[in-house]
Amino acid sequence: MKNKYQFAQEIIREAGHFIKSKMDHYIHVEEKTQFDDLVTNLDKETQELLISKIKNCYPEDNVFAEEDDIRHPINQGNVWVLDPIDGTVNFIVQGDHFAIMIAYFEAGVGKFGLIYDVMRNLLYCGGGEFPVCVNGRPLPEYEEKPFNRSLLGTNACMYADNYHGIRDLAKQTLGVRVYGGAGISMAQVMAGQLLGYFSHIQPWDYAAAYIMGKKLGYTLLTLDGHPVDFNSRQTIMFIPQAKLTEIKKYIK
Ligand code: IPD
Ligand code: CA
Ligand code: CA
Repeated sequence: MKNKYQFAQEIIREAGHFIKSKMDHYIHVEEKTQFDDLVTNLDKETQELLISKIKNCYPEDNVFAEEDDIRHPINQGNVWVLDPIDGTVNFIVQGDHFAIMIAYFEAGVGKFGLIYDVMRNLLYCGGGEFPVCVNGRPLPEYEEKPFNRSLLGTNACMYADNYHGIRDLAKQTLGVRVYGGAGISMAQVMAGQLLGYFSHIQPWDYAAAYIMGKKLGYTLLTLDGHPVDFNSRQTIMFIPQAKLTEIKKYIK
């Protein structure tokens, strides 16, 4: 497993170099389902790069990836879950605040996850048998912090609509932060910078954080308290397990 984990760290950094080397050139932007659901040639090319490297080294392994509807079930065999650019809108508009994400499962069991904040050159990785680190520095397990000394990460619309009581919960904290990227937001939760992250996201958006978070005392649940399905877009919360009961007083 160690070789595979090292391989994953190499290819995610390579993919980051690839994006950086291309991002100042012409970028072709397409709408997927609606005007704010965008994909670029670099999302697709980065995914192709990752898949070709994985298939080259591990031809028997399978892929579940965002672009081109590549959807091998996560609980069958060895599966790499890929989000080639998380925060595509940030990437297009800001040229910043986006991540590459990889998660690796064997028979449905998460073995390791990686979130690479490309422009900050910060690689969060670990989970399973590996300690969770940022650029090699171990992250501590969740340490208790009261709501009134915390910030909350959330999807902007869900906050504005007070969806399931998210705004009520936010009012107990020092405020909300909206970063426009699930990966960067969930990495901040694991770094102790956010109390939690609330959003409406897909398996490739949460798989890496799910694996790493488990190791550090965080849980990923739907807003009605069920495990995520690794199959569809769901409204989720990524929070410290120790805060679940307290959070449930506000999240209905
Ligand atoms: C999106 C981002 C965004 C979240 C969306 C995701 P993408 O991923 O993580 O923050 O609100 O739901 O789909 O499309 O940029 O990979
Ligand atoms: Ca994403
Ligand atoms: Ca993406």
